[in-house]
This record gives sequence, C-alpha cells and structure tokens, in this order.
Amino acid sequence: MQLVSDELISRLRTINQFSGNQIGQNRLVYSPTWVKGQQQLIKWGLAAGMAVTVDAYGTVYLDVIGSQSPNGIVATGSHMDTVVHGGKFDGLYGVVGGFQAISNLVAALGRPKKTLRLISFSEEEGSRFPATFTGSKHYARVADVHDIVDHHGISFDDARQKAVAKLQFPGVNTGLPALPDSFTELHIEQGPRLVNQHLQIGLVTSIVGQRRFTVTINGVANHAGTTPMADRHDALLLASSLINRLAIIARTISRQLTFTVGELHVWPNTANVIPGKVTFSVDTRHVQKAILDQFETTLRSEIQKVAVAPFSVSVNRWVNDQPTLLDADMLRQNDRWARKLGLSTAIFASGAGHDSEIMSRVVPTTMIFVPSIKGISHAPEEKSTPADLHAGVALLQESLKHQTY
Ligand code: GLV
Ligand code: MN
Ligand code: MN
Ligand code: MN
Repeated sequence: MQLVSDELISRLRTINQFSGNQIGQNRLVYSPTWVKGQQQLIKWGLAAGMAVTVDAYGTVYLDVIGSQSPNGIVATGSHMDTVVHGGKFDGLYGVVGGFQAISNLVAALGRPKKTLRLISFSEEEGSRFPATFTGSKHYARVADVHDIVDHHGISFDDARQKAVAKLQFPGVNTGLPALPDSFTELHIEQGPRLVNQHLQIGLVTSIVGQRRFTVTINGVANHAGTTPMADRHDALLLASSLINRLAIIARTISRQLTFTVGELHVWPNTANVIPGKVTFSVDTRHVQKAILDQFETTLRSEIQKVAVAPFSVSVNRWVNDQPTLLDADMLRQNDRWARKLGLSTAIFASGAGHDSEIMSRVVPTTMIFVPSIKGISHAPEEKSTPADLHAGVALLQESLKHQTY
C-alpha cells in the first residue's frame, strides 16, 4: 500500500499560499483566507467523489460512504483556522493529513465497509472572537455561540453567515451530520518532547483544562508632562504590577500551571498621555480542575485588592474548558499499529487545546502527534519534517483501515 505521498506537502502548500505575503498564516475564522481554505477542501472532496456537507458554522465534512454500514461513521480531522501570524501546520496538518489518509485507503482498497469522514472544523483557536472550539462544540451539540463580536465590532453571526454562504457550491449538502462512532485527530505536537527524545509519534492521554479571562483596568488619563507623579492613576502601571504578581502566584500554585498574558490594549495609546484604560488577556492551563479553581479564586482576590478608587478593575472569564481524558483503548490500538509500522512512540498529555477535547465528550476520541522542530508553534517558524508528517499520516491510515475495512 502506498503510504507516502507528495500530494500531502503540495496540498498543505496550496492552502497555506492563500495567506500570500503576510507574516505567517492568517486564516482567522470567516476571514477571506479561511473561506479560500474551506473552498479548496470542498473542491478536492467533490473531485474525489466524496459526499460534501457544510454546516451552519462552516465546518466541512467529506464522506466516503460505507458499502456495508453507511451509518457507521469513522471520523478524522482538525481545524482550518489559525492564530494571528500562525504556522503552516497547526490544524491544517490534521485536515490535509486526514484527507490524504482517506484518499490513500480508497485508492489502495476501494470503498470501505463503514463510512470514512474527514472533518475540517471551522474554528478552534479563539483568536478572532472571544470563544474557542466553536466548530466542534456545534458539531458535538455541546454549545452554540451567541452575541459576541470581534475587535472590529463585527458580530459572530454576521461574519459566519456571510462566510458560510461562500461555501455553498453546487453538489454541496447543508445541515448538521450525525455524530461518528469515533474521532481521531492528527496534529503537530506544538512542544519539544518528541524532538528532544528523537521519537516519531506522540499518543495523547489527556488534554489540559484551560481558562481565559479579560481583565479591564480603568484609571485616569491625564497630561504626561504636567500631572505630578504622586497624583497619577496610571492604568498601565497598575496592569504591569498586577501581571507580574499573577505570574509569581501562578508559579507558586503549581509549576505545571501555565500563565500567559498575550494581549494588551492601552488607551489612548499615545506617548504623552497617562494611560487611562488597559485591558489584558490571561490564558491559564493545567491538567487538574482544582488547580485552575485555585488560580481563578486568587486572580479575583488580587483584582479586588488593587481596585481602589479612582481605579476600577473587572474580570470577564470567556473560556472555561475542563481537563479531558481521551480514549485509552484507541490509544493502545494506535500504539500497536505504530509498532507494526516501525514507528517509535511516546505517551503524554497535551498542553495545547484541541477539538478532540470537545469530541471526546460525545464519542471515543484519540490524538496522534508528530514532532514540531524546536517545539515551536503558534508562530510562523512552526515546522515539521516531511518524513514525520508522512509517518503521522501512515499511522492514521492504519488506524482508519482497521476501523472501516
Ligand atoms: C489553541 O490552539 C490553543 O491551544 O490555544
Ligand atoms: Mn490546533
Ligand atoms: Mn493552535
Ligand atoms: Mn490548539
């Protein structure tokens, strides 16, 4: 059976080229580059004779209908969106790699007994709107999005409807397909473990829980030259001391608790005006809910302490995703297929969030990681070797074959 195909690399390149000369990949959900990515996938699916469905959130489903049990569905896939200035593989590798694995199987073995489904989720990153995993949450029927806007004031519903309308090609079905019997997500590791240990495949036991907050500090804007230092209420100075304090607290709660302030907005953001308002994000993750609870309680009490008039400080939690165990039997099976293919494996928990944590709430779910060079991800330098990318597809293909033929 043909396991390695240059089609994989060329398909990745085709979709990545839609970001043009921008820094890194910018397929924010419902943006023009995202639309082109999902359109391209639909075209490949139609050309391959697959049944194509698009749901109301813009998630694309490509099915090879099973010859004996068409309602038994084995699904694989990942997400089409990226972070701002993201890499070439986060999400897209699982989409294109899944398409490749299914295409290879059909080319080698013909129609499967059960239905093989490739899913390209609309959104996972939470980088445009204040919500994460909106594609898989919609498909898994666990949550829908209401009344949120992006930084430009564009509503989720408006952006969604306009973008999804552009995916309605002739031959494309609309609706929300049935849930599958299992889900396997192929993904780059996004961390350094596999490269450091010179291993080819990561098998994922669990996914960290994550919470994201926006903290808003209102101070008093005033003249930078005339306001005495003792009379200032500088929102940025307060934010920076609060951020430092929270970073230290996070470290003392648990060395495995991650703490990131990746977004900061300053008003009026001018050199000669004391900042009157600041907002910043907090992203925190851990495998134990109790640790996340402890951090959140401390965050709220630290905010109360510094909210002394005329300062006012508020916090809005907009992500609360629980730590998740993935399917142990599927992991064991994949470990077995990996050995059969001569691939070395490591078994560990994921510090990144994935659609798999949502899918695992409704169906047995597993993940396959391949090494990320230097462990870099969510950056333009994100890279994996073609050999490792092919190895991940080979393992996915073996796993899908055993589930469907
Ligand atoms: C999304 O990729 C996340 O893990 O933040
Ligand atoms: Mn991802
Ligand atoms: Mn990501
Ligand atoms: Mn992620």
